[in-house]
Amino acid sequence: MSFTKQEVIDIIRENRDELDPKLRLRAHEERKKFYGNSVYVRGLIEFTNYCRNNCKYCGIRGGNVNVSRYRLTKEQILECCRTGYELGFRTFVLQGGDDPQITDDEICDIVSAIKSEYPDCAVTLSIGERSRDVYKAYFDAGTDRYLLRHETADNGHYNKLHPKEMSFEIRKRCLYDLKDIGFQVGAGFMVGSPYQTDENLAQDIMFLQELQPHMVGIGPFIPHKDTEFKDFSAGTLNMTLVMLCITRLALPKVLLPATTALGTINPRGREEGLLCGANVVMPNLSPTGVRHDYSLYDGKICMGDEAAECISCLGKRVETVGFKLDFSRGDHCEM
Ligand code: SAM
Ligand code: FES
Repeated sequence: MSFTKQEVIDIIRENRDELDPKLRLRAHEERKKFYGNSVYVRGLIEFTNYCRNNCKYCGIRGGNVNVSRYRLTKEQILECCRTGYELGFRTFVLQGGDDPQITDDEICDIVSAIKSEYPDCAVTLSIGERSRDVYKAYFDAGTDRYLLRHETADNGHYNKLHPKEMSFEIRKRCLYDLKDIGFQVGAGFMVGSPYQTDENLAQDIMFLQELQPHMVGIGPFIPHKDTEFKDFSAGTLNMTLVMLCITRLALPKVLLPATTALGTINPRGREEGLLCGANVVMPNLSPTGVRHDYSLYDGKICMGDEAAECISCLGKRVETVGFKLDFSRGDHCEM
């Protein structure tokens, strides 16, 4: 169903203190219609924490001198894929900062290598803003999907979260370019980010309805000690669940992760997310030695677990709420 902005604002206000079980049930029924009990698994490889940007909320922003920087080699990335493939993963998500040292040819070469070794796997990139031509080159190299959260669909709010060089207009242009090229596209936003209003959240839903992305990443904002937002409160579990429910109802077929950030603010956050329409989990395949250096926010969970431990822990967690892990590619449902 399609919501008006005022309808979203009303739902947010009605559910602010406590999520109405009826809203949760509606979202749950909607996800079951298209995806049954399946929870798709994506192997996340955080392959570089170098970044030229300075998003004000982000722990690995370029200006943070306290970060110990790393960049995995192509061979190390392929090794992560090998580990993941043996565990059954059929989607690899290469995420990183906007690393100025990695060339576009190198990115294409890494993607081609993964696709030639694992032709039955989907490759997702999440490495920030590029020109249309560069996105097209990534696509031609075999990249199937691209994640680029829009962060907030309100210009004024966007400018409060980012340095002046960045703008919502550029972000939006990137997302439309990606869609037009043929990627399965993921947008998304943080819940409870500094200065966010109910109207901003409603505007996020309006933007998602307009863009019609295949995936939407929604997680709570969590402060990081080395950012100017260090003293702001984190987004709440309840409001993140409300936004997951609304997103599932607005975009019934969307692929919606129960994020690590949700698991960080509450030990049962991901399970709760799955009960509110989420249908994807993204266990970490990065080498354990670098995990601590990909610190976007304080207190991030799953820092020390090997991939095999992560997947067995997640498997048990999803079963407790009546779902089962699905290791297929988990493409967006077109029926
Ligand atoms: N560089 C890529 C980009 O710009 O899309 C991807 C990496 S970026 C670290 C991935 C996502 O982490 C961002 O889109 C943002 O929503 C999320 N993130 C960053 N800092 C965060 C924080 N303090 N709390 C919650 N999420 C955060
Ligand atoms: Fe670049 Fe966060 S500021 S990844």
